[in-house]
Amino acid sequence: MPFRSSLLASSLALALLSLTACGHPPSNPAAAAPAVEQSSAAQAASAAYDFDMDVFHPVVAENGMVASEQELASRIGLEILKSGGNAVDAAVAMGFALAVALPNAGNIGGGGFMLLHDARSGKDVALDFREVAPSQASRGMYLDAQGKLIDGKSLYTHYAVGVPGTVAGMEHALRKWGSLPLSRVIAPAIALADKGYPVSETLAKTLQQEKQSMGRWPATQAIFWKNGEPLKRGDLLVQKDLAQSMRLISEQGAKAFYEGAIAQKIAAEMAPYKGAITLADLKSYKVIERQPVRGSYRGYEVATMPPPSSGGAHLIQILNMMERWPMNQWGVNSAQSVHYMAESMKLAYADRAEYLGDPDFVQVPLKGLVSKPYADQLAAGIDGNKARAAQSIKPGKPQAYESDQTTHYSVVDKAGNAVAVTYTLNTNFGTGIVAKGTGIVLNNEMDDFSAKPGVANAYGLVGGEANAVAAGKRPLSSMTPTLVLKDGKPVLVTGSPGGARIITTVLQTVSNVIDFGMNPAEAAATPRFHHQWTPDELRLEKGFSQDTINLLKARGHHVAVKPAMGRTQTIEIRDGKLYGASDPRNPDGQTLGY
Ligand code: DON
Repeated sequence: MPFRSSLLASSLALALLSLTACGHPPSNPAAAAPAVEQSSAAQAASAAYDFDMDVFHPVVAENGMVASEQELASRIGLEILKSGGNAVDAAVAMGFALAVALPNAGNIGGGGFMLLHDARSGKDVALDFREVAPSQASRGMYLDAQGKLIDGKSLYTHYAVGVPGTVAGMEHALRKWGSLPLSRVIAPAIALADKGYPVSETLAKTLQQEKQSMGRWPATQAIFWKNGEPLKRGDLLVQKDLAQSMRLISEQGAKAFYEGAIAQKIAAEMAPYKGAITLADLKSYKVIERQPVRGSYRGYEVATMPPPSSGGAHLIQILNMMERWPMNQWGVNSAQSVHYMAESMKLAYADRAEYLGDPDFVQVPLKGLVSKPYADQLAAGIDGNKARAAQSIKPGKPQAYESDQTTHYSVVDKAGNAVAVTYTLNTNFGTGIVAKGTGIVLNNEMDDFSAKPGVANAYGLVGGEANAVAAGKRPLSSMTPTLVLKDGKPVLVTGSPGGARIITTVLQTVSNVIDFGMNPAEAAATPRFHHQWTPDELRLEKGFSQDTINLLKARGHHVAVKPAMGRTQTIEIRDGKLYGASDPRNPDGQTLGY
């Protein structure tokens, strides 16, 4: 690691110097932001942070921190922490709150993953509450009689919905690692759904974008439309049915969702569509506690999400390749760094398409994929001067088998517990279908299966046998909630939405902090790039110099500058302080601490 502990002392001194020299404290955007209420402890923590050195500033605090894509949810999480709840209590409260405040991605009708560090036992756990294919799902379900993909069936129909896992996941996490009752942590979300809140510019835009898919369903319109049009900025979004569903969950637990009144309503919504989710499918849903997939990078440990996410495996695989290169000397986003990283990304995504799927159905060569010798072998094939054409890349041979809408949030508490949650409806508002009378927006996670070998899904990802549709199987994900640890203690908690681009977004966040000594705000503000093997395109955000682009093109990369990628929510723990940042790519995001 190039900098920080060593630089901290001198930069601290510098900050103090500049304070006396200028006679006024350096500006503190964290404190200036209206939503940030800084306690005296947080103010003391900020004072120790060198605002003069850095261009982008994290929120600084001492006792606890939350970072999410919606200020309303962050406030709820912070309130739980301040009133004595632990990180899991706050995470569960935020999980329910985001279902209300960020209805295009936050959910109880979807699923996701939680990476958790339990400070008491020192253990890291990967909680899998991913959706499951219904019992009548089958590999050809999205194809017509000629074997052609039926347009939109895996995205905008009742057949696109996987059995949701969020409610079971939240309840499981709270029961095992939380300290407060479900009724306490869910209460703020119920109140918010009942009372409503003004629609933000971001949400209004998303509603407008999804007007066609959502507008087909009267039950959806009843919630998100006014005067025949999607709600606009400033309109009040009140979700009475959702409040009532959550009230049932508060009183009866997850049983209400999987067996009780909510289950009945979801099953009734599905009943006209033979082969879609049934009551029995809901009843048999199971949360799975998995071992995180582990790796190391320049002296840090990385604990991240194993299959059925591909995220953790490929994050570690790419980091393993990068470890041999002097990234810090090459510099952030230099043509040299981008070239080597993009070449590594291609190799990893080629393996993703071949090997990754639900480990309960297919054998994933996980150990082989994350092994250092395999990275040696892959890296040896990278040409420093020339981009390999994607078609010439085939999946590698890891050692033999052994057994646009998602959201991420991160929480750290006083006791050192850390929680990273990425959960999703898949695309914005999922199917756009609300189960009548529940207020619950249903996911379209089934599109994450490979509906037909070689045919791309919503994120341009291709897959094959390992990720074919099967009853009871979990579709392959890219979600990568991640903990970076030192001596068994978390130092970085991060994750992002972004479909296929999640893996490379998390990769660059980890690298920006470890290789380039950035704080979480700088790490988030740095322009990102992405290559996923197919299409053969090196996708860049705005912000790369024309020089760099020219150099990359000269090496044979097919460069395309496209919209922003990922929206990280990151908390760094350093020298007993918390430094957090919500990705500037979503202006609604908010990190709060105390
Ligand atoms: O699980 C996955 O990989 C996808 N369903 C995630 C979708 C996503 O991140 C969309 N967000 N922008």
